[in-house]
Amino acid sequence: MKLLAPSLLLYLSLLLDDAQAVRFPLQGRMGGFGNTLRTTAMTRRASILGTPDLSNQGNMQYQTNVTLNGKEFQNVLIDTGSSDLYVVGDVPGAKDTGKIGQVNYAIGSTKGPIKTATLNFEGFTVKDQAFIEQPVDSSHVEGSGIIGLGPGGASQVQDKLGAGAGDAVLDRIFKQNTSTPNYLTIYLGRAGDPTDPFPGDLTVGELVSPFENITSQPKLPVTQMSNRDGQHWTALLDKNGIIGPDGNRINTTKHATGNRLNVMFDSGFTFPQVSTNIANQIYARVPGATFANITGGTAPMWTLPCETELNITFVFSNVSYLIHPLDTVTSALQGPPDANGNPTCVGAFQPIVADHDGFDIILGMSFLRNAYMLINFGDFVEGSLAKVGDPYIQLLPLTDPAEAHNDFVQVRMGGVDRSADLQLLPALPDTSDNDDDDSQPHEDTLKKYLPYIIGGSVAAGVIILILIIAASYRKSHKYRRLHDPAPAGLPTTNAPFQQYQPTRRY
Ligand SMILES: *[C@@H]1O[C@H](CO)[C@@H](O)[C@H](O)[C@H]1NC(C)=O
Ligand SMILES: *[C@@H]1O[C@H](CO)[C@@H](O)[C@H](O)[C@H]1NC(C)=O
Ligand SMILES: *[C@@H]1O[C@H](CO)[C@@H](O)[C@H](O)[C@H]1NC(C)=O
Ligand SMILES: *[C@@H]1O[C@H](CO)[C@@H](O)[C@H](O)[C@H]1NC(C)=O
Ligand SMILES: *[C@@H]1O[C@H](CO)[C@@H](O)[C@H](O)[C@H]1NC(C)=O
Ligand SMILES: *[C@@H]1O[C@H](CO)[C@@H](O)[C@H](O)[C@H]1NC(C)=O
Ligand SMILES: *[C@@H]1O[C@H](CO)[C@@H](O)[C@H](O)[C@H]1NC(C)=O
Repeated sequence: MKLLAPSLLLYLSLLLDDAQAVRFPLQGRMGGFGNTLRTTAMTRRASILGTPDLSNQGNMQYQTNVTLNGKEFQNVLIDTGSSDLYVVGDVPGAKDTGKIGQVNYAIGSTKGPIKTATLNFEGFTVKDQAFIEQPVDSSHVEGSGIIGLGPGGASQVQDKLGAGAGDAVLDRIFKQNTSTPNYLTIYLGRAGDPTDPFPGDLTVGELVSPFENITSQPKLPVTQMSNRDGQHWTALLDKNGIIGPDGNRINTTKHATGNRLNVMFDSGFTFPQVSTNIANQIYARVPGATFANITGGTAPMWTLPCETELNITFVFSNVSYLIHPLDTVTSALQGPPDANGNPTCVGAFQPIVADHDGFDIILGMSFLRNAYMLINFGDFVEGSLAKVGDPYIQLLPLTDPAEAHNDFVQVRMGGVDRSADLQLLPALPDTSDNDDDDSQPHEDTLKKYLPYIIGGSVAAGVIILILIIAASYRKSHKYRRLHDPAPAGLPTTNAPFQQYQPTRRY
């Protein structure tokens, strides 16, 4: 059994399938597809022409419709992180190939007979498309499924049926009409965004209007893996290409990939997966932030006051992609209540939980809402005869800083701009993405913190204490990883940070 395409958090499907009505905040559903959205007077991005092909489930999943032998499956997750199609429920008249297909996602899996049927997707008709017919069970709801839009080489079905008959959906589309330009574009809308209600769009071989200028954006070469099975839509982030909430670049220097992080773009992953260091640099300096287990979550995340506006930016090929503060600190999940009993929000950039190979971070939906993405498949199309060139990715920034700020003030601050009140705690030491690099001295870091001990700040004192422990730990052991450093894991009641927040307000 191979470990495959990390994608899709199971708990999301649990939430969606079993407890949708209970779990999702109302605003989370605003972007959900509904007839009302079509008629609502739209502003700005609503100028997108045509009807949305995606529905947005509370910013947690983006789904489309696919039809197999005339039967419509309406809740099919679009997933650039995997390469197989599965649907839940019977497909009338589908031809059984006699093979069994199985795909294991980062969390969750599918297993069922591999069948073929006529597929309708995005206006294309594909005869004898192979797919996995997943029987309905407690974790697979009739009418749902996943359409894998990743490179075809990673397809499990193709592995079983062979190239040609077993090709992934997009490979089939591109091959059956070589005039179809071999690219895919994805536009993800934001539920709960007061100014941009468009739920989302997906196109094959054409562009979403009015964002045709995406084709003038820098072409990020897809980092090619030696192993076809392990190929994903990945590209290199610029060196130290994340600008943190204090406006400074986060040190993401890595030796392994020539100082640049290899980033996988995964429309099936709700929360971006970053290193512990990056997550800490984004969230750990916020007064009141705690690292905690989240109800419904599979791994701990940072939780923080919902009105925390954090501006972070990713840089690819010198182009800045601002992340909307509604995405950086999300209300899609709730953290444990704070000391005053107020609900907390969750840091969407999560310290990595997925098994990953060959890439450093996964940029999922919380990133993709901020960049319209074009993936040109280049020569990756299975069995393509003509050499058409190397695959590449283009990203068009979508988030306007002033508009995003106003959105945030409106949605999270009750209309009163209090962003200036945010006082970040002192910079954290670079806990380093070089988990196996033991060469950095720690004394410097400790010195930087000394004044705060003298100042008597309890919070800083705790940070220093942890640093000292970490430093001594480091002396005697081979340094691995500062798991849950600094404020992480501190009890949520009586958190020392409370004494360090002259401006804290809830
Ligand atoms: C999916 O199909 C249903 C039923 O035909 C339709 O109401 C809905 O608008 C479709 N959704 C999308 C996102 O196209
Ligand atoms: C093939 O694709 C081209 C470009 O999208 C389109 O104009 C043409 O009608 C397609 N041909 C068929 C047979 O579908
Ligand atoms: C691309 O076009 C959109 C829509 O017209 C516009 O808002 C945006 O500023 C343009 N972006 C670039 C980088 O040209
Ligand atoms: C960033 O990290 C690398 C590796 O850990 C280190 O060599 C470098 O000095 C750091 N750069 C800065 C500006 O802190
Ligand atoms: C989360 O829960 C696990 C299992 O109960 C526990 O080991 C871990 O320490 C918890 N993490 C945090 C940050 O509370
Ligand atoms: C980004 O800008 C810097 C400084 O202007 C330049 O040296 C570098 O080549 C640029 N990088 C890319 C990928 O365009
Ligand atoms: C975030 O950026 C916006 C737009 O530049 C700015 O108005 C706001 O003050 C910033 N907020 C914080 C907390 O840095």
